[in-house]
Amino acid sequence: MLIDLVKRSRPLASDAKLLVLGGGYSGRCLASLARAMGTPVLCTRRSLDATHADLLFDSNGQDRLDPGALEGVTHLLCTIPPDRDGNDPVLSKLLVTLRNLPLRWAGYLSTTGVYGDRQGSWVSEQDEPSPMLDRSIRRLNCEKAWLHSGLPIQILRLPGIYGPGRSVLNALHQGRARLIDKPGQVFCRIHVEDIAGACWHLMHRTEQGTPPTMDQGNLVNVVDDLPAPTAELMRHAASLLGCALPPLEPFDQIVDSLSPMAQTFWSENRRVSNHKLCHDLGYTLLHPDYFNGLQDCLNQDRLNPPDLHSPPRSTNG
Ligand SMILES: NC(=O)c1ccc[n+]([C@@H]2O[C@H](COP(=O)([O-])OP(=O)(O)OC[C@H]3O[C@@H](n4cnc5c(N)ncnc54)[C@H](OP(=O)(O)O)[C@@H]3O)[C@@H](O)[C@H]2O)c1
Repeated sequence: MLIDLVKRSRPLASDAKLLVLGGGYSGRCLASLARAMGTPVLCTRRSLDATHADLLFDSNGQDRLDPGALEGVTHLLCTIPPDRDGNDPVLSKLLVTLRNLPLRWAGYLSTTGVYGDRQGSWVSEQDEPSPMLDRSIRRLNCEKAWLHSGLPIQILRLPGIYGPGRSVLNALHQGRARLIDKPGQVFCRIHVEDIAGACWHLMHRTEQGTPPTMDQGNLVNVVDDLPAPTAELMRHAASLLGCALPPLEPFDQIVDSLSPMAQTFWSENRRVSNHKLCHDLGYTLLHPDYFNGLQDCLNQDRLNPPDLHSPPRSTNG
């Protein structure tokens, strides 16, 4: 629970002010942590009617983000994905504005998809990216643009994100989970609170005089300890819920019935190392594996039942 992060975290300096570009699932979680720690936060969304929308920013819209509204921003998290052409929508529209801010830390949420398929082997930040999928090629392009932006940037590479209201528990509950078995296939995942926790930890390291360097120091995998097959998660989730499992479907027999998007999801197999985050940089995961993480989701979903009519999201956790 977020309260567990709050209890173990320390405040940033009193002049710190956070801008979250894209107050979606992960952005909102960091914003909640920062507010609980006493740091003022500004969150952008594409509609001011959306929850937690302090400022309007839509890279495809006509409205311009007023630079005056960002005065004094010292920390930045960007969660906004690449545009269709593989350009970064934030850098295209806001780079000059961001360069004029007194930024001490900037985080960019990327994906571990940039590593491409590793046939189940371990991969770390020291390995060259080798993206195969168009969306991962676009993402790597944006990573490069952020690295060359002149901002004090750290790139956080994320696997499938899960958390309250967005886990295999919800997929099972809504009857949209499929128990697919592909021998040897694993996926990595991260609980949304560990994205917020890792950002906060990296901000603190920078405050203490450990700036992101222009080598691989500014690339960080943010993944949990336990890559695992989705079928294993689903079995565990069903036992937590006390519900029946959907029928087992051998991957080879159903692959042609999967959407093109789902097929790409199953086409890559890698185990992503968190050694750098958890050992070199000293972050302690709040949810080191899906056993811990799904129990947390169950507890939080019971406290705040999710909207079961919301569109399906990642089924990776
Ligand atoms: N979901 C996963 O499993 C996963 C895995 C690895 C990496 N990632 C990446 O990690 C990041 C965070 O993921 P998330 O699940 O927290 O994302 P999310 O909930 O979809 O939030 C994305 C945010 O970007 C904003 N946004 C999108 N297009 C925009 C545009 N053209 N102009 C301005 N704002 C725009 C959205 O605005 P609104 O709030 O108005 O919708 C939202 O606030 C994303 O870049 C995602 O691609 C996700």
